[in-house]
Amino acid sequence: MLSTMQWFLPFFAGMASSQTVPAPGTIPMMRFECSQLVHDRIDPLVNPGVTPSPHLHQIVGGNSFNATLAHDLPAVSTCTSCTFSEDFSNYWTAVLFFRAQNGTFHRVPQAPSEGLKGEGGITVYYIPDAKNKTAVTAFKPGFRMLVGDAAATTPQPARKVCHRCMPAKGDNSNINCGAPDGQELPAKPCVGGIRTIITFPTCWDGTNLDSPDHKSHLAYADGSQANDVGPTGSCPASHPVVIPQVMYEVIWDTRGFNDKSLWPTDGSQPFVWSTGDQHGYSNHGDYVFGWKDDALQRAMDTRCNGDSCPALKSQTPEEATKCTVPRTVDEDIDGWLEDLPGNRTLF
Ligand SMILES: *[C@@H]1O[C@H](CO)[C@@H](O)[C@H](O)[C@H]1NC(C)=O
Ligand SMILES: *[C@@H]1O[C@H](CO)[C@@H](O)[C@H](O)[C@H]1NC(C)=O
Ligand SMILES: *[C@@H]1O[C@H](CO)[C@@H](O)[C@H](O)[C@H]1NC(C)=O
Ligand SMILES: *[C@@H]1O[C@H](CO)[C@@H](O)[C@H](O)[C@H]1NC(C)=O
Repeated sequence: MLSTMQWFLPFFAGMASSQTVPAPGTIPMMRFECSQLVHDRIDPLVNPGVTPSPHLHQIVGGNSFNATLAHDLPAVSTCTSCTFSEDFSNYWTAVLFFRAQNGTFHRVPQAPSEGLKGEGGITVYYIPDAKNKTAVTAFKPGFRMLVGDAAATTPQPARKVCHRCMPAKGDNSNINCGAPDGQELPAKPCVGGIRTIITFPTCWDGTNLDSPDHKSHLAYADGSQANDVGPTGSCPASHPVVIPQVMYEVIWDTRGFNDKSLWPTDGSQPFVWSTGDQHGYSNHGDYVFGWKDDALQRAMDTRCNGDSCPALKSQTPEEATKCTVPRTVDEDIDGWLEDLPGNRTLF
């Protein structure tokens, strides 16, 4: 296991050149693995109670996850697939598929990010206020939010959902969506897989745990940039409360599909989001807060860094990978599929 310092230094190696980012090593941030809880076609945030929901998701976190979210996740969960054992939150995104020349689809596996251990899943970040050392306000029970748009057909103005074509190792320049990341899926095979990033807003209205679009109770800071790390800039008067910056990093292990002879002959790229999107704009991230008591606030106040934190209880990767739930929707999502789950129309 790499120590925090070992990953921390190379991780920030390329960041000093960016003006929006403080000097290397000055931002403590929680960065930890959540192994796969399940892949399922339910979406309790956007389509509560709907089984099946329109497209497939990959989900991590507490095992109370089902088609109808509970308010108090720690009260109804008995395990979590995340490193910190008091974190029963749920985190989910769309799923990447490879489309073969014969038109069939294969789900792309996920791999833990560099320096972390587990199975599939998501790397989750919680980043405190870096420039302004004011404490951030952790979320409250029942808090939810969504970033991205499953129906998007064009690049999104906020530039908070993106892809990077990863080299075999390293490339930690700009952890967020700054260069060389793009909103489009990479046009060439990526030897280190495709890394997707979803960055949540850092300003909250201070009142609403959710909103009809699951977005308007939150805002990005004024002048926020694609590659901001942590809460930077100032929050608008409508959303004055500074919250931790939540970020998802998912490594899609495309190495099994990199043989160019399997790729489309017209020069297009072969990956498709579970929404049906062949361009890359429709990936999205859903978040439901579920930390026990004040655990997240303690972690932020004590500036926990990496995936070891004295203020929190943690579990081994072996324990975390044991926390899974059965799929609700009984359908084939592995092997070569004639249609995407939900028979999505490609767009
Ligand atoms: C989801 O789980 C909660 C308890 O966590 C339970 O009350 C609810 O009935 C479950 N919903 C479904 C659709 O299974
Ligand atoms: C479709 O293509 C994939 C990848 O080349 C192959 O493994 C699969 O057997 C093919 N399926 C059919 C029905 O030809
Ligand atoms: C730091 O954050 C606090 C709390 O949100 C805010 O009131 C203050 O204006 C910020 N200071 C600077 C210099 O941005
Ligand atoms: C999937 O949708 C297409 C039309 O988009 C339809 O022709 C086909 O029969 C559907 N397949 C299934 C299994 O429902």
